[in-house]
Amino acid sequence: MVETAWMARRDEPVPEEVERLLATVPEWFGRPESNAEYIADARTMETWTVRDAKGRVVGVTLVAHHFPQSSEIHLAVVDREVHGGGIGSAMVEAVRADLRERGTRLLEVKTLGPSHSDPHYARTRCFYQKMGFLPVEETDLWGESTPCLIMIMPLRQGADPSVQEEQQEKNSAT
Ligand SMILES: CC(C)(COP(=O)(O)OP(=O)(O)OC[C@H]1O[C@@H](n2cnc3c(N)ncnc32)[C@H](O)[C@@H]1OP(=O)(O)O)[C@@H](O)C(=O)NCCC(=O)NCCS
Repeated sequence: MVETAWMARRDEPVPEEVERLLATVPEWFGRPESNAEYIADARTMETWTVRDAKGRVVGVTLVAHHFPQSSEIHLAVVDREVHGGGIGSAMVEAVRADLRERGTRLLEVKTLGPSHSDPHYARTRCFYQKMGFLPVEETDLWGESTPCLIMIMPLRQGADPSVQEEQQEKNSAT
């Protein structure tokens, strides 16, 4: 576990900072059209940031809430100058704690799959596995030359309370 003093927090949209951070990691985010989509997404999506002592954004995570039971890390990026310093961990930990409080049960992330030889994304997969994500399936969702690995982190165990409530309602109606 990374020992870190970095604090991640829910923030306002920071699309300009996302654009700046993506430009520091062209080995991961080298497609201008995909970057433009991420920057556009950053205008509206739930945003978590880590800022340095001067208030400058050094890491951003965008979160999508698909269902009450499941959410997704849509984008995670840390300034290249400070990789490996615990900023990514701080963001995942903060998002995870928030989702647990909301009662969310699964956190998903999609990344480049292991059948692709890219060494940079091999490091990204190590990061997510270290954080507790499990590989679930590699798909061709992004096309044949870009294998997409779906990873999931379970947040809570046990039966889904919403299903139990539904069942109770059905039982009391009969
Ligand atoms: C992936 C990323 C968000 C991780 O953030 P980070 O601040 O660098 O990560 P942390 O310092 O919190 O690392 C936590 C753990 O991840 C693993 N990890 C991080 N960088 C690693 C690397 N280069 N190689 C192998 N493992 C690595 C380590 O296990 C590390 O724990 P340790 O230091 O105790 O060994 C960041 O490196 C990044 O922006 N990468 C480029 C963009 C990217 O891959 N985004 C995700 C696309 S799906």
